[in-house]
Amino acid sequence: MHLWVEFSINWLIITNIQYLLQSNKLIINLLSKILKTSKQFIRKVYFCAQNRIHHKRNNMTNYTSLGLVNSKELFAKAVKGGYAIPAFNFNNMEQLQAIISACVETQSPVILQVSSGARKYANQTLLRYMAQGAVEYAKELGCNIPIILHLDHGDSFELCKSCIEFGFSSVMIDGSHLPYEENVALTKKVVDYAHQYNVSVEGELGVLAGIEDDVAAEHHTYTEPEQVEDFVRKTGVDSLAISIGTSHGAFKFKPGQKTEIRLDILAEIERRIPGFPIVLHGASSVPQDIVDEINRYGGSLKDSIGIPEEQLRAAAKSAVCKINIDSDGRLAMTAAIRKILVEKPEEFDPRKYLGPARDKLKQLYKHKIENVLGSHHRI
Ligand code: G3H
Ligand code: 13P
Ligand code: ZN
Repeated sequence: MHLWVEFSINWLIITNIQYLLQSNKLIINLLSKILKTSKQFIRKVYFCAQNRIHHKRNNMTNYTSLGLVNSKELFAKAVKGGYAIPAFNFNNMEQLQAIISACVETQSPVILQVSSGARKYANQTLLRYMAQGAVEYAKELGCNIPIILHLDHGDSFELCKSCIEFGFSSVMIDGSHLPYEENVALTKKVVDYAHQYNVSVEGELGVLAGIEDDVAAEHHTYTEPEQVEDFVRKTGVDSLAISIGTSHGAFKFKPGQKTEIRLDILAEIERRIPGFPIVLHGASSVPQDIVDEINRYGGSLKDSIGIPEEQLRAAAKSAVCKINIDSDGRLAMTAAIRKILVEKPEEFDPRKYLGPARDKLKQLYKHKIENVLGSHHRI
């Protein structure tokens, strides 16, 4: 009996010590977690403050002060989650309204793209404030979606620098038409500048057939998978646009041609740079019902063929994390405007045809997000 009491007491003591050690472990874990979070927070605050001082000194607009974000975290999430973020071009208010309301309703992050042509058409200052307005508009619609303001097809260091100073959170430097080493040098120069301000940079390897700004190429020059590792390492880019058979505009294939993109090249690129964010330009699908509507109401689009949506869907599930769509939006707006002007020839209030054009555009964007890119509910 005596032995039994002694055993029980010892047992109790040991259990209590174990319990104490365990709860201490919990407390230590909790403390180290708190310390880690505070360290991250302090680093963030310090980085923002440093950036603000730098921007002020250089008379720059900090994209974070506009409520915009860069692409780093969003791309990492997209690659991991097997979806692509929409990159929609905009030149005017109706396009911007359609993009933002579609993305808010689907809860999708979005990349607002501004081309050199858009800058010339709409004025760069106005576009910048429109993007800032888009952030507030999204909040007003009820969802603070992540918005990236991106320069599409930047063709010089000066243009990229100017956009960075203007508040863009991401730029593309398109040196794809240059000899390889020149492309590397130019891209690296932009990266070195942009990264000082935490702005993301997209580079390009390989040439898309069709027209890219003022440069026209008759045939695709597919991206050579053997070059991607070297390019990414030497330049330090955050994402890479590749050429695998997509092209700009509404005439991507000739009638009778196989409407296939080279998903095999994409797979090989992915194998060589696993998890690295890949971008697809020229990804409009040229919906035939929209082309027919344009032609029904007096348009003349012959043999307009785009990229089949199921191929884009497959690409979005891989390392492709940004898909550029512009032409499909242009087609949707044109179809709606033509229809109204034909059906109501007495109409002359721009809101009466731009409004329906905006609605059709929004419907198209929602379809892309939900059925092609898979970026809905990803905020
Ligand atoms: O890549 C081209 C985009 O569709 C922009 O076109 O230069 O006519 O504005 P844009
Ligand atoms: P689409 O012409 O196929 O819409 O491509 C747009 C684009 O790539 C913008 O950079
Ligand atoms: Zn493009």
